[in-house]
Amino acid sequence: HPIPVITIDGPTASGKGTVAHKVAEHLGFHLLDSGALYRLTALQALRRGTPLNDEHALAKLAEHLNISFTGDAIFLAHENVTDAIRQEEVGNTASKIAAFPTVRTALYGLQLGFRKTPGLVADGRDMGTVIFPHATLKVFLTASVAARAERRYKQLIGKGIPANMEDLLMDLKARDDRDTNRAIAPLVPAEGAHVLDTSEMTVETAVAQVLQWYAAVG
Ligand code: C5P
Repeated sequence: HPIPVITIDGPTASGKGTVAHKVAEHLGFHLLDSGALYRLTALQALRRGTPLNDEHALAKLAEHLNISFTGDAIFLAHENVTDAIRQEEVGNTASKIAAFPTVRTALYGLQLGFRKTPGLVADGRDMGTVIFPHATLKVFLTASVAARAERRYKQLIGKGIPANMEDLLMDLKARDDRDTNRAIAPLVPAEGAHVLDTSEMTVETAVAQVLQWYAAVG
């Protein structure tokens, strides 16, 4: 039997991170937050002043990421960057560099390595389309732009990070646009994916739905 994989893809702030985390916890599975890998690469680039149009240099950064995950914390070398990578600037930069094919290729093997027994929940944009096309269960989470902006706003304020609703809406739309329209690994539901609109749904309901789908195939 292959090691089971549940992919959860969707746009920024659709709730996929939270849902993936809870589904993984419930099943005792490993978790891959693939967006964190693009964010870590972006953070490195911003800190080192790597030109954001230098695809080759960015791919090198991605290839040599010295990362580790401990519980819910993410480390770059020995520094805890869990909060640093959540900044809007880092997310926006991540979405720009994620459009480079060689950056994506550089992170490919790293992502496959997360598939370990007893199973994996992987969240991102292309988990079901590119990285794990033969996943046991594929889910595509969406929510309206308004619902997502509100969630992101609360998330940032809750972390003590200043936020402005109008800027957030603009950023979300720009990022959706980039992620959906890029030539490589664009954000689209994978073939056979279950689509779940969470605009009017609690996290608990979304998690229960994913678990129910998994129980039917896993
Ligand atoms: O999901 P998150 O907002 O952390 O991802 C940050 C950015 O990384 C996204 O806007 C997207 O451009 C990119 N990304 C990607 N493929 C993934 C995960 C994230 O291109 N599998």
